[in-house]
Amino acid sequence: MENRSQWGTRIGFLMAAMGSAIGLGNIWRFPYTAYDNGGGAFFLPYLFALLTAGIPLLIMEYTIGHKFRGSAPRSYSKMSKGLEWIGWWQVAVSFVISAYYPIIIAWAIMYAYFSFGQQWGDDPTSFFVGDYLQLSDPGVFGSLVPSVLFPLLLVWAIVFFTLGRGVRKGIEVANKIFIPALVVLFIIIVIRAITLPGALDGLEAFFEPNWSSIMDGKVWVAAYGQIFFSLSIAFAIMITYSSYLPKKSDITNNAFITGFANSSFELLAGIGVFAALGFMAFQNGVEVNEVASSGVGLAFMVFPEIISQMPASEFFGVLFFLSLVLAGLSSMISISETYVAGLQEKFNISRGTSILIGGGLAAVASLFFATQGGLNLLDTVDHFINNYGVALSGLFEVVAVAWFVKSLRDFQSHADGISDIKLGFWWRFCLGVITPAVLGVMMLQNLKSEIT
Ligand code: PHE
Ligand code: NA
Repeated sequence: MENRSQWGTRIGFLMAAMGSAIGLGNIWRFPYTAYDNGGGAFFLPYLFALLTAGIPLLIMEYTIGHKFRGSAPRSYSKMSKGLEWIGWWQVAVSFVISAYYPIIIAWAIMYAYFSFGQQWGDDPTSFFVGDYLQLSDPGVFGSLVPSVLFPLLLVWAIVFFTLGRGVRKGIEVANKIFIPALVVLFIIIVIRAITLPGALDGLEAFFEPNWSSIMDGKVWVAAYGQIFFSLSIAFAIMITYSSYLPKKSDITNNAFITGFANSSFELLAGIGVFAALGFMAFQNGVEVNEVASSGVGLAFMVFPEIISQMPASEFFGVLFFLSLVLAGLSSMISISETYVAGLQEKFNISRGTSILIGGGLAAVASLFFATQGGLNLLDTVDHFINNYGVALSGLFEVVAVAWFVKSLRDFQSHADGISDIKLGFWWRFCLGVITPAVLGVMMLQNLKSEIT
């Protein structure tokens, strides 16, 4: 496979990797997770998780992709015949995510439009579930909701178009546009947010350290969980992307850059979101803890209310939802590339055919989430993916590499051969001992909370 696609530039690869990492997790998951797990004190376990698991795993995934030059299934099977299934498991998790992730992007597209005249009115919550999603009883799919379906088709058109143009002309070019644009938009939003009345109360709530929290095991698990999800680790993504790196690539350095860029964006998002929440609390005469939230509720119920109360609502509404769209699209493209590359190599078909089959199946699956029961289905599937899919994927991966095929030394010399920063015992220890232990505890804790 010597004529394998390649990134045109190092920056192109970095933009694509950052594009995958920087997503909804940064904007709507990190701020509340930090706030809820010790505020300012959370940064300690968080940084620890970044340095002992996030970046080490990223280095490992970049090495795997670069060394074996294949999609995740192909790379694992080259590592050891019996491990191909780990690649497919990770691709399958990504496939499932790619069926519901575009729904959220579709909502954000519509909400950018709803920003004109604040069409969500005085009660954004009932507007979202009632008027917009036409949510019906749990378990009932009901009919397709046109105002979700049409933007969803637009999202798929962008994804098909981008993937269809290939790695360099499609994925790389898209990310080189999306990521700088996202950063600019987001900085404007954050500057606006921190200059609103009440912003300081929000920042105080976000940064105030609750030091006793770092004695709590759950807080550490939350920190590792945020890092795994946020860096797109164990989703087959980073292996696929690094398989398109040229022979001479400073893998270790690239991993540090990706990791720190993603965390910087998380910090920025935390500041922006909590400044905005502080403003909302101030406007409504309540405490910040009464309005703090995360996820779908934060973006589509709380933020519309904040936006309505802001000066220049329309402008900032469009900016906020557009930044969700850009962050989401760049992640969505990376998830879809995992199965496009996997199918193409497995069945020896053209890239175009693979996009039509893989993307087509995911697009059809996404229709289930565009029905009146869509939000309930999305919550359920997302819960399983977050609690089991990710932790299991990571566990399979590190245990296989560190304990079964025992390739860490081998990978270390591969990475060291092309990187400035040299890896050492610390790297093998993080991957062979710390990461599997944390992922094991994470699995048990999730199972326990399921039962109780
Ligand atoms: N890393 C992305 C984020 O922080 C989420 C993501 C997970 C993207 C899995 C792709 C695949 O939002
Ligand atoms: Na992220």
